[in-house]
Amino acid sequence: MTEGLPGHVAIIMDGNGRWAAARGLSRTRGHAAGVESVRVVTRTCAKKGLRQLTLYAFSEENWKRPKREVELLMRLLRRFLVRERPEIMENDIRLTAIGRLHRLPADVRRELEKTREMSEGNRGMVLNLALSYGGRQELLDACRAIAHRVRAGELEPDEITEETITAHLYQPDMPPPDLLIRTAGEMRFSNFLLWQISYTELHVTPSCWPEFREEHLDEAFESYARRVRKFGGLVPGTASG
Ligand code: FPP
Repeated sequence: MTEGLPGHVAIIMDGNGRWAAARGLSRTRGHAAGVESVRVVTRTCAKKGLRQLTLYAFSEENWKRPKREVELLMRLLRRFLVRERPEIMENDIRLTAIGRLHRLPADVRRELEKTREMSEGNRGMVLNLALSYGGRQELLDACRAIAHRVRAGELEPDEITEETITAHLYQPDMPPPDLLIRTAGEMRFSNFLLWQISYTELHVTPSCWPEFREEHLDEAFESYARRVRKFGGLVPGTASG
């Protein structure tokens, strides 16, 4: 049953630390529990028939965290990329990634590439990981690439359109998210998909990411199904005169 479901869901997974602190646990345990939510939510979304799930797994700003925490997150990511391969293949999931991937440690890049290649032919849901990702940085990288093309004489400045910018993003073919979910109650976008979310519906839940399960997803999808999306226009049939 995919009727009324968003096609592309993006999630800002927040609150691993708060979830752990509330239970007297270390941040390490919070992140490990967060990985379990990634597994469960990915499988659930694939089974429900979503076309794409984009997860904000590591932001450009996250490099500023203590070295030990960054190392832990990279270790968890690498392990996830290796251990989830059978699950990814069984569920016909195609893995992709966006971000400044060259900044990731070599072992993570290697496992990412392996899983990406292995799942390339899958035709079910796309699981897109935002890694070393920042929305401003993505736009900056796109601007630089476009400027190089202008300098090379391939493009006139006045020929630059919204489509030109989209074509120079990390994944030009990625559809914009229909629904953005943020956990742990914060009402902000934190530099996530800034170009792509202009008409995305937002759902914020107070639940922390490690406790996020199918019931929270269903709540977000029910809220989404009630929205009327106008994309700046009018609801058909409401224009008068
Ligand atoms: C926020 O918690 C979450 C992150 C820093 C990124 C999410 C990372 C994971 C779920 C684990 C690794 C991901 C994959 C795909 C294997 P926080 O530390 O900001 O929480 P806090 O604000 O409560 O401290």
